[in-house]
Amino acid sequence: MHTKIDTFFANLWQDYLSITPSAKKVHELLGEFSEQTDLINDHVAFRTFNIEKINLEKLAAHFLSLGYEEKGQYNFELKKLNAKHYEHPDKTKPKVFISELIVDAFPDNIQQIIRKMVSNIATDASMQDDFLYSGRHWQITSHEYEQLLEVSEYAAWMAVWGFRANHFTVSVNHMKHFQVLADVNAKLKQAGFVLNTSGGEIKGGPEVLLAQSSTMADKIMVEFTDSKKLVPSCFYEFAQRYKQHNGELYHGFVAASADKIFESTNSK
Ligand code: NI
Repeated sequence: MHTKIDTFFANLWQDYLSITPSAKKVHELLGEFSEQTDLINDHVAFRTFNIEKINLEKLAAHFLSLGYEEKGQYNFELKKLNAKHYEHPDKTKPKVFISELIVDAFPDNIQQIIRKMVSNIATDASMQDDFLYSGRHWQITSHEYEQLLEVSEYAAWMAVWGFRANHFTVSVNHMKHFQVLADVNAKLKQAGFVLNTSGGEIKGGPEVLLAQSSTMADKIMVEFTDSKKLVPSCFYEFAQRYKQHNGELYHGFVAASADKIFESTNSK
């Protein structure tokens, strides 16, 4: 059952680990507290640009073909992002959160850098089975990276890392020994991991039916056309969901919390 989905997430996870060494350590640290033989993923997140060749819908098509359904829409006005989330009828499969940068909301010089990158992607690339962990399809100079970084950490992250999981998320609800997210955070800090404190260490809580926290992204040496530089790669997130009035767990996302989670890849 669902072998295709499991294979996809296994490939995605290996690609993510290759640039997120701390995720492997977190996974080992928390793994022994899992109810299952392995940790359960609450969701996996992807980023892209709203340019038709590779927009949110092109990424989503991969999940629709695996039986996922569109469930929620979100807008992040200040960061100039739109997002949607997808769920599989089999609730043991991770939810999927896809955002896209609204490129036309940026100045011309920024748009030009982004459009040049995207022009290097093969026309049918987004339809390939491995597209969602295919990385970047272009070269970029360190000056272009700096220009993007000034206006959008998100755009700069995309320029370096391209198409891959931005983060995986441990489901705290499926852990044993830990009942609450604060205890998971304490364990992580005790082991020396740095958490994202933007908007507080825990974003949300019982009042919005979802509590989230995350590590700060690892920093990895990246090759630009003219130099090498340490830049933020990916991070690990932790989510605790609460029951709604009907007794079922809430499966949506909270825009105000997601807004702060995006900042886990900030360079400062
Ligand atoms: Ni997330």
